[in-house]
Amino acid sequence: MTTFSYDFRHPFDIIVLTGAGISAKSGIATFRDSGGLWENHKIEDVCTPNGFEKNPALVYQFYNQRRRQLLDPKIQPNPAHRALTHLGQAVRTLIVTQNVDDLHERADNQNVVHIHGELLQARCTACHAVHEVKEDFDAESVCSHCQTKGSLRPNIVWFGEMPMHLASIYQALAQCKAFIAIGTSGQVYPAAGFVAEVSPGCITYEVNQVESEFSRQFQNQSLGPASIKVPELVEHLIDTFGN
Ligand code: APR
Repeated sequence: MTTFSYDFRHPFDIIVLTGAGISAKSGIATFRDSGGLWENHKIEDVCTPNGFEKNPALVYQFYNQRRRQLLDPKIQPNPAHRALTHLGQAVRTLIVTQNVDDLHERADNQNVVHIHGELLQARCTACHAVHEVKEDFDAESVCSHCQTKGSLRPNIVWFGEMPMHLASIYQALAQCKAFIAIGTSGQVYPAAGFVAEVSPGCITYEVNQVESEFSRQFQNQSLGPASIKVPELVEHLIDTFGN
């Protein structure tokens, strides 16, 4: 969902915030667990506008390498992604993901917004066109929309840049009946602050394999791997909020 406009007359009953932990079982490295992604690179070198300006070749290589990993046939949605799709078929649910992989979409989830961008997209800094990409691209690549050479960048929100779709997400948070956070360390804002934006009557749940930075803000917690705990939670959510 590259463009997302929220219809307050048709609110989402459930908002689910997902982080890298939901994709761990699928074989995609998280960011801060031991062996996480950052250990191979300094954040400021590959995930900031300044890093891209200083060494674009390194940043292109970093995202080309992650895109190739994502497109490896071994990387597939896991039971947690599929359970959320099942939830969305029974209850009006919005997935707000911090992840840049497409595993929610590959699990046929229809209502997904990526607040940190998408690995399988490139954005042109000249005409702002967003392209779906599966191949490597770099400073030699040409935008197919405006034919500019060297203007393509990963359509990823870097540190210091504004996450996407925030206005619509805050409207959705104010109206939802349940808010669930899955597999996120709760360390990066604004996503880490979403739980504080829900209405007083909203029921909150967290799924993580360990206590996170914001666990104490949730009324309900399910400790364990998302691939096991999310399907269990989804059955409870359908019983509680299903039509
Ligand atoms: N099941 C459930 N939770 C898990 C699992 C699992 N199998 N594996 C890891 N986790 C949890 C970890 O305990 C941790 O709390 O997932 C969380 C992963 O945290 P991070 O690596 O910090 O990832 P995330 O919270 O998504 O990072 C948020 O920070 O670096 C930026 O833009 C990047 O979107 C990312 C944002």
